Amino acid sequence: MILVTGGAGFIGSHLVADLVASGQAARVFDDLSSGKRENLAGLRGVELVEASLVDAAALERACAGVTTIYHLAACPSVPKSFDEPAFCHAVNATGTLHVAMAAARAKVRRVVFASSCAIYGNTGDVAVAETRPPQPKSPYAAQKLLGEHYLNDYGAAHGFTTVSLRFFNVFGPRQDPSSPYSGVISIFCERLLRGEAITIHGDGRQTRDFVAVADVVQALRLAAKEPGVVHGSVWNVATGRSRTLLELHAALAALVGGAPPPCHGPARAGDIVRSAADITAIQTNLGYRPRVGFTDALASTLDWYRMRAAAVAQAVDKRGATPRSGGKA
Ligand code: UD1
Repeated sequence: MILVTGGAGFIGSHLVADLVASGQAARVFDDLSSGKRENLAGLRGVELVEASLVDAAALERACAGVTTIYHLAACPSVPKSFDEPAFCHAVNATGTLHVAMAAARAKVRRVVFASSCAIYGNTGDVAVAETRPPQPKSPYAAQKLLGEHYLNDYGAAHGFTTVSLRFFNVFGPRQDPSSPYSGVISIFCERLLRGEAITIHGDGRQTRDFVAVADVVQALRLAAKEPGVVHGSVWNVATGRSRTLLELHAALAALVGGAPPPCHGPARAGDIVRSAADITAIQTNLGYRPRVGFTDALASTLDWYRMRAAAVAQAVDKRGATPRSGGKA
């Protein structure tokens, strides 16, 4: 049995769909705080355990008969980790310790952990390799780093293999745009489609390596199945090409047929200025290859937000109610 924590969320539900498509059964552990039941709609052989990572006993029960854990559940936001540091610590750090404890008890073989490039801090324009010493600049980054250590230490002591994948900026269908903590591409897509103004925090010259969710799923699957993986391996998951927010805005504006220039607000606390990934290690060790082109992935992501907006409008029409401006999917 495979356990996916956070399996009803944005990245998790894409992973679960891929597992199901390849004939595997999956157990999803998700408290549905940001994940949604409908993200798993139509997927056969998926069992949902609705519980939080802070509930160590529930996690231990969910690990019965499990051989592989994909640990994706998290409170994945840099600004939220400043606003609610204790809560985020409980989920991201203590929650990951609970995963390590449960994996040890259940004699799980491998844990693949969704870590973060936030761990590197500001890297300048240099593409960072995994050998770079961590310099976390936010509680979120520190919590993810601690999570890597907990899993490595427990794995070494109890015989399971841990692989930590440091995700760069993941985007794609089903990313929820409705919170101020949402990923920038989800926010920009939704605003552009509504004809609303876009706010860039800072001058827009900050860079990110935006990686399509399908490529992240590719990396997760490889990390779980590659037999020769060394315990404690850490790999970047990205495309190897960074873009500024101004470039992102221009690419999206072109896809929607033009948009007004963005507004600029103050830079966010703890915001990374430059983020660039060296993906040589994951390419060499796992045979990972980014397959999805940036513009194609942006276009299909925009299509998904279009469809979502149409579905919301249709539902509102049926009820004869007034559309809300920022509701959840
Ligand atoms: C993201 C991830 C986080 C990951 C981290 C690694 C999300 C939601 N968070 O954080 O899980 O660990 O990368 O570094 O994907 N921005 C705007 N306008 C907006 C929204 C955002 O200008 O309306 C800017 C932000 O200030 C930031 C950039 O866009 O400079 C990206 O922000 P965001 O998508 O929240 O991601 P990160 O903070 O990079």
